[in-house]
Amino acid sequence: MQKRYLIGNWKMNLTAKNAVALAHAIMPVTAKLRRTQVGLAPSFTAIATVAQRIAGSGIQLGGQNVCGEAKGAFTGEISVEMLRELGCSFAIIGHSERRHTFGESIEIVARRVHGALSQAFATILCVGETLAERDAGRTLEVLDQQLAALEGLRYGSRLTIAYEPVWAIGTGRVASPDLIASAHQHLAQRLEHLGGPAPILYGGSVNPGNLREILQVPHVDGALVGGASLSAETFSELLQITDGE
Ligand code: PGA
Repeated sequence: MQKRYLIGNWKMNLTAKNAVALAHAIMPVTAKLRRTQVGLAPSFTAIATVAQRIAGSGIQLGGQNVCGEAKGAFTGEISVEMLRELGCSFAIIGHSERRHTFGESIEIVARRVHGALSQAFATILCVGETLAERDAGRTLEVLDQQLAALEGLRYGSRLTIAYEPVWAIGTGRVASPDLIASAHQHLAQRLEHLGGPAPILYGGSVNPGNLREILQVPHVDGALVGGASLSAETFSELLQITDGE
């Protein structure tokens, strides 16, 4: 049975108290999973309390971002060592909200990816085109530019890619299976030439109504979920779909 991944990106939602309650509420379902690796990315301030609550559950915790530098004068940033100390085993890097709302360039994202991987920290690198880029026929070119962050890196089994078309994130507009298939196929091919295969997740308005179909698309190994990960009921449903199909 092929391994699957379901990662909940809680973004800037939930206080530590509410985050713990949500993590607790999904634990009965995660305990029964056979092939799905579950990851949660709470806000930085909630990580420590969530980590205590889920200890021993097999759920992995991650940061929603991480600095490429090990330490020093980088106000507002958080290091791999700090995340590790709290019990995190991965970080999301290059999320479209970081790239497009906070202006993180391809170079900044690449520095974060190099820093995390060189400290042997598992990384989910998010890539994806804007609507304007898709309409201009530039999707695959943009994905290549974003994947260039991996050049010269030996990432081994520490890398996961999340394909998240920017126009599908938080909009209720999910990419069609054909669009997902062509992007994932392209990414899988490029990864072969970079540092070898890595799991590729889809993200963007994933919900219990569309996940089954998405998981049938070749080269889709799971999903990165925002909005639908904030309800225990909905996320539990997504976990069951991911594990069962
Ligand atoms: P969404 O977010 O599921 O709310 O579209 C996905 C993401 O940002 O990772």
